[in-house]
Amino acid sequence: MDQEQGFCPHRCELNAFPTIDDKPLLMKPTTSPKTYRVKSFGCQMNVYDGERMAEMLGERGIVPAPEGEEADLVVLNTCHIREKAAEKVYSDIGRLTKAGREAGKEPLIAVAGCVAQAEGEEIMKRSPAVSMVVGPQAYHRLPEMLDRAVQGERATDTDMPAIAKFAALPERRRTNPASFLTVQEGCDKFCTYCVVPYTRGAEISRPYADLVTEAKKLVDAGAKEITLLGQNVSAWGGEDEKGHRVGLAGLIHDLAKVEGLARIRYTTSHPADMDGDLIAAHGEIEKLMPFLHLPVQAGSDRVLKAMNRSHTAESYLKLLDRFRAARPDLALSGDFIVGFPGETDAEFAETLALVDEVRYAQAFSFKYSPRPGTPAATMDGQVAKEVMDDRLQRLQAALNRDQLAFNEASVGRTCEVLVERKGKHAGQWLGKTPWLQSAWFEGDAAIGDLVQVELLEAGPNSLSAKLRETVAA
Ligand code: SAH
Ligand code: SF4
Ligand code: F3S
Repeated sequence: MDQEQGFCPHRCELNAFPTIDDKPLLMKPTTSPKTYRVKSFGCQMNVYDGERMAEMLGERGIVPAPEGEEADLVVLNTCHIREKAAEKVYSDIGRLTKAGREAGKEPLIAVAGCVAQAEGEEIMKRSPAVSMVVGPQAYHRLPEMLDRAVQGERATDTDMPAIAKFAALPERRRTNPASFLTVQEGCDKFCTYCVVPYTRGAEISRPYADLVTEAKKLVDAGAKEITLLGQNVSAWGGEDEKGHRVGLAGLIHDLAKVEGLARIRYTTSHPADMDGDLIAAHGEIEKLMPFLHLPVQAGSDRVLKAMNRSHTAESYLKLLDRFRAARPDLALSGDFIVGFPGETDAEFAETLALVDEVRYAQAFSFKYSPRPGTPAATMDGQVAKEVMDDRLQRLQAALNRDQLAFNEASVGRTCEVLVERKGKHAGQWLGKTPWLQSAWFEGDAAIGDLVQVELLEAGPNSLSAKLRETVAA
């Protein structure tokens, strides 16, 4: 594709998306796979995509490989956000080929997700064992690629058809009590460090009616909680059944009416797209959980500007104040990058100061990783690894302190937990509080129950709890 035709305003190399390969390389023909394994890395949107790919394979009569056994077909659903995440795919391919050989079979390997989108044909060249490379907007074509792969053809599909994928996917029939529902894809924000606008394409909202239908199907299949997903979920917009424009708040209001759905969450938001309706929704909708993941990235306005974030530290803090006014018990979460090019010690200290002010209930923090084709990768002042290590350690110490403090402040509280899985020991159950803390307890319960517990003891990552009663599920 001509560089000028891509949507990327930076004209970086990543906008040269290859499309389906017409002259595929050949491998040995093989028998149709009977078992599969989908391994998803990266964000929750990849988890959602992984579930949908598994459903498509299931429709074909392919079943999940039993625990501990090599699968006939492995889908590596990859993440390109940081260098380490992206390189993982190649070590995984090597491991799979070796394990397959030892087990006397050669698994069919498909690389999906954001590395597939960013590197496309490159993966085919570098890894002869891979027979399918499929991007995040094209994975509905996986079954068709699989037919070709069984014939010995290698195919790459990193096409980006606007939103065709969802219509081509099978109906939702199985799910977890806490389910994901992708409502929006792509990103137009172009933060200067980030690959997502290139790997996931432009911002697109799925239609309102499709989302209401999918939410109902998920509830019928056993979902009690739905997390609405989007790379920029707060940018979602659509038309309701009366033809009125609605934003994310309107969608949440309407999904809250779905009988049997007990909890709604959404992630990830960008400070630029948070409107008054969404803020108000936190005070109005009981089913909307008191939790907000709102990445800030840094505390220095100069760094934020260089990152092309459209907020300042002050505008971010003011926004949080409005959310807290609407929902005083709101738990906050964020993302941080340390060592963005040019970040000085004093500027990093501003990140620590912001953390001290917000007191996050949980957070994710990363060392800046230069991503090929993004503007920041070629900026002056790349920060030394040791400096980044030191900053990350200091930031994480502050974030861990606050996470523990938040959990400790919850001790003694009686709250609802949605049981998501069994614990390590017999009779032990694990679930999430409304504030997204992991809580475990013993007693008479089942996966999918909404139970009342008293929080007893706090650790940095979870709380122990005592069962009080089971709420009608
Ligand atoms: N859409 C979300 C999150 C996108 S990716 C948002 O706008 O915040 C998740 C997180 O990965 C980002 O919030 C950021 O903290 C981190 N990240 C993205 N690119 C990175 C890079 N090049 N190096 C280090 N961390 C990065
Ligand atoms: Fe990446 Fe999020 Fe920025 Fe979009 S808003 S470019 S996904 S960090
Ligand atoms: Fe990774 Fe792609 Fe998600 S790069 S974080 S899997 S959008």
